[in-house]
Amino acid sequence: MESQPMYLPEDVILKVENLDVKFYTYAGVVHAVSNVSFYVKEGETVALVGETGCGKSVTTRAVTRLIESPGRIEGGSALFRRRSGKVVDLLKIGDEELREIRGNEIAYVFQDPTSSLDPLYTIGYHIHETIVAHKSKISKKQTFKQAVSLLKQVLIPSPEIRVKNYPHELSGGMRQRSVIAIGLSNNPRLFIADEPTTNLDVTVQAQILDLLKSLQENYKMGLILITHNLGIVAEVANRVYVMYAGKIVEEGYLEQIFYNPSHPYTKLLLRAVPDPTKKIEKLESIHGTVPSLINPPPGCRFQPRCPFAMEKCLIKEPPLIEVENQHRSACWLLERT
Ligand SMILES: Nc1ncnc2c1ncn2[C@@H]1O[C@H](COP(=O)(O)OP(=O)(O)OP(=O)(O)O)[C@@H](O)[C@H]1O
Ligand SMILES: [Mg+2]
Repeated sequence: MESQPMYLPEDVILKVENLDVKFYTYAGVVHAVSNVSFYVKEGETVALVGETGCGKSVTTRAVTRLIESPGRIEGGSALFRRRSGKVVDLLKIGDEELREIRGNEIAYVFQDPTSSLDPLYTIGYHIHETIVAHKSKISKKQTFKQAVSLLKQVLIPSPEIRVKNYPHELSGGMRQRSVIAIGLSNNPRLFIADEPTTNLDVTVQAQILDLLKSLQENYKMGLILITHNLGIVAEVANRVYVMYAGKIVEEGYLEQIFYNPSHPYTKLLLRAVPDPTKKIEKLESIHGTVPSLINPPPGCRFQPRCPFAMEKCLIKEPPLIEVENQHRSACWLLERT
């Protein structure tokens, strides 16, 4: 069913275009992700940031086709460069090829990592399973050795002992590291980490981040980091996508976003985090909350909360407008007439 060859610039691992995801609930259709486009290069860390419910997890889950009913991916493409060099559209390939890629070329650390650990199996067994799922001709002895080495890489003390531990025998920080180790089992090209440090204390957070960063350098992976914590973004991201109500409202290099934010939402986001360890549930400095995605506001979705809203913003949705090289913002204030 594979059609014409697809093109991706050489250093790009993933390119998502015009992604559209909806949930068909009894209350109505939730426009969870609308027209989202982004890319990730080899060895690059891309951060997805935004308030709770703005579509960060749905975006990355959709890319790996992990959207469950009543959700549906309604449009877009997600071109991915496989280890072999072949470029595929993750949204179109068959289930078998998708299985070859997931947990192997793409690793996904879920928002609640402990839920991805089975309490009945040791950490070593989890790694074993992940490896044999993609390499059948490997002995248990070899995978065990690899498991010890992976636990060592994620700086778990006494890995020879820990490899035989069950999830409940580990601290939260160690479980988190174990999940990262499992993710690294098959040397992925792309690592997606959804809030990998939430619920961990600040010191452990910093250690996990250093770890991800150094592993990324060693493995030359692309890393998508989802976080509400702008302190973390500042520390590790190369480029940033700011999401609001299911859309990307601003994108650019870290410095552009932090030192020259253009979208009123980004500006408020940067101002509204006195405590970088707190989850952004609600921006105190602006009234209101993220709108219902069942009936998103007309025009710009941020307009009801925007201190600069003009008449046009209520009528017409702003496209991403170029601020400078690679820096774009979806705001009518940028429109030069
Ligand atoms: N199974 C579902 N059924 C209905 N709506 C859903 C479902 N999953 C997600 N949504 C909706 O999709 C939107 C985006 O949710 P998503 O989980 O991507 O947010 P998020 O940015 O990851 O938030 P958080 O920071 O809280 O993790 C929200 O409006 C959410 O309510
Ligand atoms: Mg989420």
